[in-house]
Amino acid sequence: MERKDTLTITDNRTGKQYEIPIEKGAIRAKELRQIKMHDDDFGLLSYDPAFMNTAACESAITYIDGEKGILQYRGYPIEVLAEKSNFMETSYLLINGVFPTERQLKKWTQNITLHTMIHEKIKKFMDGGFLYDAHPMGILVGSLAGLSTFYPDAKKVDDPDSRTIQVYRMLGKIITISAYTYRHSKGLFFVYPDNDLSYSGNFLNMMFKMTEPKYKPNPVFEKALDLLFLLHADHEQNCSTSAMRGVGSSRVDPFSALAAATAALYGPLHGGANEAVIKMLKEIGSVDKIPDYIKKVKAGESKLMGFGHRIYKNYDPRAKIIKKMAHQVFAVTKKSTLLDIALELERIALQDDYFMSRKLYPNVDFYSGLIYRAMKIPQSMFTVLFAIGRTAGWVAQWLEMITDKEQKIARPRQLYTGQLNQVYVPIEKRF
Ligand code: CMC
Repeated sequence: MERKDTLTITDNRTGKQYEIPIEKGAIRAKELRQIKMHDDDFGLLSYDPAFMNTAACESAITYIDGEKGILQYRGYPIEVLAEKSNFMETSYLLINGVFPTERQLKKWTQNITLHTMIHEKIKKFMDGGFLYDAHPMGILVGSLAGLSTFYPDAKKVDDPDSRTIQVYRMLGKIITISAYTYRHSKGLFFVYPDNDLSYSGNFLNMMFKMTEPKYKPNPVFEKALDLLFLLHADHEQNCSTSAMRGVGSSRVDPFSALAAATAALYGPLHGGANEAVIKMLKEIGSVDKIPDYIKKVKAGESKLMGFGHRIYKNYDPRAKIIKKMAHQVFAVTKKSTLLDIALELERIALQDDYFMSRKLYPNVDFYSGLIYRAMKIPQSMFTVLFAIGRTAGWVAQWLEMITDKEQKIARPRQLYTGQLNQVYVPIEKRF
């Protein structure tokens, strides 16, 4: 049979046949619209709740093979980047598509560092506007949305020079605002950025500096945090990235889109899972209680947080790297009973048919919270840290979307299942 890159569809309602091109392993959903019962029909729609089988864009940023457990940024395996690169260099790679030269990296880092300062009014807004026990992610979402009002030039999304400045601002200010969400919850004074420090060192400085004249980050923590930012930097069209692209597609300023992406990340099924893992490990309490907990999960009473992934049907490659790093971090901190529980939980789950048959493996969130905890970062800040790393990916994806000629305002269709042409009944006649 002659090989053709097309799909032939027979509509059994009409007996008509259609030949649809296959490009890059996909058909264009719009091609289905030509399949009609009558000339004035709308045409066939594809129904895909939760986008289980829909590509909403072309992208050259991140490649995932979920079956094999492969993750690459711009064609570079995550394992290589984790070993040889750092967050600043990798964010340049994600955003610009190529690795920087030494001079370009210096300039890139300098530009981002220069934009770590935030307007004093944002500080006041964060300090005066939120309750002392407000969740840091709520503060972060609100403050990022507030940033858009400080930078009206960010509305010029079609101006490449304006976009470049907004990129520096987003990457620079996210660490300052993130650290302030923590200081606010502790009732502590806000610490200004120290631009002599590295990106992750500066973040630790703004989180933890007290009265010492110069904060010196613990080098193991600084490196671990930098690696965690790198590992979280992008993950193609996940829920929050889709929010960044979808909201950004209305041509709103990128700070508003960033706030929307951060809000999506806040959910317990997405970035909130790292916090939920620690809650779960604490609830289990000791290694001997694991079998009972597994029983509950298998009975559908709860989920094994930090396990499972929409795309990975194999070990999440990021989880492998983080697990290795957890051992390094715990070598310089107190040993953790929660780590022992996590290791045993993973061991038991990976031998259990329930998890194996559903291809449920540890994901990025399973071990990351344990490392944050060892670094004395409170649980409520875990998702904020995820947001810092992911900002690089959100920015890269936003830029790709904004300059993609095929992208228009995102506007899914629906299958209407409600009533039609109802008659209005006055309130006194309703019962
Ligand atoms: N524990 C127990 N059972 C699970 C779990 C889990 N963590 N995840 C999925 N399952 C079961 C699920 O009940 C279903 O079983 P059945 O076929 O009997 O109904 C089957 O596995 C397929 O799951 P699904 O819910 O259809 O899978 P999904 O692709 O819609 O969900 C997920 C993916 C990540 C939301 C889900 O695995 C989950 O809720 N995991 C726990 C939360 C978590 O760790 N999230 C972090 C994800 S990675 C980082 C990020 O995205 O931010």
